[in-house]
Amino acid sequence: MEKLIERAVRDLCGSAYAIALTGAGISTESGIADFRGPSGIWTRDPEAERRAYRSYEKFLRNPKEWWEERLTSPSLLGNLEKAVPNPGHYALTELERLGILKCVITQNVDGLHQKAGITNLFEYHGSVLKLRCVSCGLRFAQDAFDLEKLRREDQLPPRCPKCGGIIKTDGVAFGEPIPGDVASQSLEEAGKCDLMLICGTSAVVYPFANLPRFARERGKTIIIEINADPTPLTEEGISDYLIQGKTGEILPKIVEGVKKAVK
Ligand code: APR
Ligand code: ZN
Repeated sequence: MEKLIERAVRDLCGSAYAIALTGAGISTESGIADFRGPSGIWTRDPEAERRAYRSYEKFLRNPKEWWEERLTSPSLLGNLEKAVPNPGHYALTELERLGILKCVITQNVDGLHQKAGITNLFEYHGSVLKLRCVSCGLRFAQDAFDLEKLRREDQLPPRCPKCGGIIKTDGVAFGEPIPGDVASQSLEEAGKCDLMLICGTSAVVYPFANLPRFARERGKTIIIEINADPTPLTEEGISDYLIQGKTGEILPKIVEGVKKAVK
């Protein structure tokens, strides 16, 4: 482990354009369950996963009913308002502050990278703390609409003030297209980077899992995984190496090494 951490420090210090990709694994140390880990949400409740796969279709069929269900059932991820970043999130912010990390592309909808102060963030699967018009793509803060009042007055779904389109939570559901802006920006970053740090993802959900493969096709990119378990990227040799363990323990050690090196 120590040798691999030293190697990651050297690789980061030698990089000209490093980016990070993150998944639910980076937030488990903040008390938010992941999906496919040993105590993941889908691992524990396969029926919930099946329901999640039907959610977008339901939204398209009956957005009013979808919203009513959304406003009356508890969130699978628990109370995200109260969740706080952990040392793994802050370590990435520190690497950005040092000018080494150019951006973070996350699958997480929990808003913790923002809370940790990341400035260049791409939320590939959106954010449950935002709303989005499914027609024009405009995004809104969660409290931009009084959803409870709309429900009481039987005025659901909320409508976009700009184009009249239907408003949905910004979180991207299974089967829903990735919003065009974040999809193209993320591909551009993956195309520009010479180092990709992949933290806390099982790398089985597409099209996000294509980003490392796209970077690998370009050849010279160094791809480092930090994850509790090996992933298809490890097994297929897409990544150069895996540092196996907790992101909240490994990333701060890497930052410490980088700080020493840059000093
Ligand atoms: N440190 C490192 N790795 C961790 C930690 C940790 N503290 N905790 C969990 N892991 C690992 C798990 O072992 C697993 O391999 O992180 C990975 C999390 O994988 P998933 O649960 O599949 O989460 P993710 O890859 O983000 O899922 C992708 O799937 O369910 C959808 O939309 C949802 O964005 C999500 C997408
Ligand atoms: Zn609109």
